[in-house]
Amino acid sequence: VNPVESKLIDMHEQTAELYNHFLMNTDYGQHALDYLHKRGLTDDTIKFYKLGFAPSNRILSTFLKNKGFDYQSMRKSGLFLESDDGELRDRFFNRIMYPIKNEVGSIVGFSGRVLDKSESQAKYLNSPETEIFNKRKILFNFSDAKNAIRKEKTVILFEGFMDVISAYQSGVENGIASMGTSLTREQVHTINRITKKLYVCYDGDAPGQNAINRALSLLGNTKLELGVIQMPKGVDPDEYRKQNGEEKFAEYMKSALESPLSFKMRYLKLNRNLDNENDQLTYINDVLKEIAKLPQPLERDIYVNQLAEQFNVSKLDLTNQMNKFIQRDD
Ligand code: UTP
Ligand code: MN
Ligand code: MN
Ligand code: MN
Ligand code: MN
Repeated sequence: VNPVESKLIDMHEQTAELYNHFLMNTDYGQHALDYLHKRGLTDDTIKFYKLGFAPSNRILSTFLKNKGFDYQSMRKSGLFLESDDGELRDRFFNRIMYPIKNEVGSIVGFSGRVLDKSESQAKYLNSPETEIFNKRKILFNFSDAKNAIRKEKTVILFEGFMDVISAYQSGVENGIASMGTSLTREQVHTINRITKKLYVCYDGDAPGQNAINRALSLLGNTKLELGVIQMPKGVDPDEYRKQNGEEKFAEYMKSALESPLSFKMRYLKLNRNLDNENDQLTYINDVLKEIAKLPQPLERDIYVNQLAEQFNVSKLDLTNQMNKFIQRDD
C-alpha cells in the first residue's frame, strides 16, 4: 500500500466512524436507526458492519478538512462531487451508509441506501472507481467471512448487502456479495484462492433467477464445486430472515440446497407450458444438453432416468439423444 492509498483508506475509515456516530448517537440518524431496527437488525450487527448515516446537511468536506486532509486527496477519494468551480460537495447525503472493505479489511468505499422508496433515485448509490476501490475485484464481506469460509469449506454468494448481513446475524458467517453487478473473473479468482465450493443464493424473483443462471454459466468454467440455495418464490434471503427468524434462516441455508442441474431443470420450465407437446420437446432437449455436460456417466444416468420417468418416455431414446450432445474433446 503506497502513501496515497493509505491516506485514502484513512479518510474512508474516519468517514465510516463519522457516519456511524451520526447513526448511533445523534438526532440526525434517529430515523435511519429506527428504519434498521424495523428491518430487524440488532445494534451488535449494526456495529459489526459499522453501518452509518450520511445526513442531508453535507458535513463531510468540513469534517475531513478539519482532520487535516488536503484538497487533492479529497478529490480523489470518490466521496465528493466536484462542481465547475472545483468545490467539493458530499456525494452521499440522506442515506444509510454501508462501508465496503477490501480483501485485508480496510474500508475503501461505500454504498448508500435511500430510506424511502423513491422512483427518482437509485436505491443504492455506490462509490465510483478510485485508486483504492475497484468494483470488479471487491466482494462485500470477504475479509470478515474468510475464516468462516475456510472452516465451512464453502462460500455462500448473495445478491445484496442486507442478505449478507442477515446471514451474519443468523450465525451464517460465510456469506459474501458481489457489488450488485454480475460476478466478475477477478472475484471468482479471489474466491478460488480460499475455497473449492460455492453456493449461489440469489433472490427468489425473476431477476434473481436469471442472475443465478448467468452466474452458473460463468462459474461452470471454473473448478469450483457449485450448488444453488433456492429461495421461496419472490422472497430474498433478508426478507426470509425477517419473516421466519434467524434460526429458520440458518436451517433453510442447509435444507434448500440443490444441484446446478436441478436448478437448471426448474429454470428451463419457467415461461413454458409443458402440457404443450412442442414446449415439452424443446424442454427435454434443453435438459438433455445440460445433462450431457455432466462429467460423470453415473450422474448423467441418474438425471436421464428422472427425465424419462417425469415425462413417461423411453430411457433408451433419451440416452441416445443425450449421447449426441456430449462434446468430445478428442
Ligand atoms: P436488490 O434490488 O435485490 O436490493 O439488489 P436488496 O439487496 O434486496 O436491498 P434492500 O433489501 O431493499 O435494502 C441487490 C443488490 O444490488 C445492488 C446492491 O448491492 C443490492 O444489495 N444494487 C441494487 C445497486 O448497487 N444499486 C441499486 O440501485 C440496486
Ligand atoms: Mn429503534
Ligand atoms: Mn434482487
Ligand atoms: Mn434483494
Ligand atoms: Mn432485500
